[in-house]
Amino acid sequence: MAKIAIYPGSFDPITNGHLDIIKRIKFLFDKIVIAVNDNPLKSFLFTASERVEMIKEVLNDSSGIEVESFRGLLVRYAEKRGARFIVRGLRALSDFEYEFQMDLMNRKLNPQIETVYLMTRQSYSYLSSSIIKEIIKLGGDTPSLIPDSVKKRLQEKFN
Ligand code: COA
Repeated sequence: MAKIAIYPGSFDPITNGHLDIIKRIKFLFDKIVIAVNDNPLKSFLFTASERVEMIKEVLNDSSGIEVESFRGLLVRYAEKRGARFIVRGLRALSDFEYEFQMDLMNRKLNPQIETVYLMTRQSYSYLSSSIIKEIIKLGGDTPSLIPDSVKKRLQEKFN
């Protein structure tokens, strides 16, 4: 049976921290579905289709990787895609509590789906999409933290 993993998130926008996780999980699974959360109750800077487009733009080698947006429960989406794994990156201790709660809840909703955690590389451990948005909005630079195409999109958005 093919090992399919969902890598979910807001990706508003994708950063090099996310890309590092994608690069590392490529060798662990047969197929990866990058699932962009399109929660209508959350306000995002980029629309779901813009976020999907930006991810597709920055994937160097997209073999075995699909990118799409989803609404509703993550485990229902994973079931629909035939995925038995969910991947999450852990940055700091502060991520643990939230991830633990999500893991327990997702497990209750579907005990067959396993969540796998990867420690974020040290150079990205302080990174977040929000902090990147703030820096670019205020005219600062973010060397090696986001791809150039993402930086360009952010600058266009804020101009
Ligand atoms: N390196 C650097 N930063 C990273 C990172 C990494 N490897 N991985 C995540 N981050 C950052 C993100 O940029 C983001 O920053 P922001 O908060 O400033 O935007 C932050 O960490 C959180 O990221 P993300 O992984 O996108 O989590 P999220 O909380 O936005 O989304 C979902 C989590 C989509 C998986 C979750 O809300 C979900 O499953 N929703 C569907 C509904 C559902 O099923 N709910 C019940 C769950 S029990």
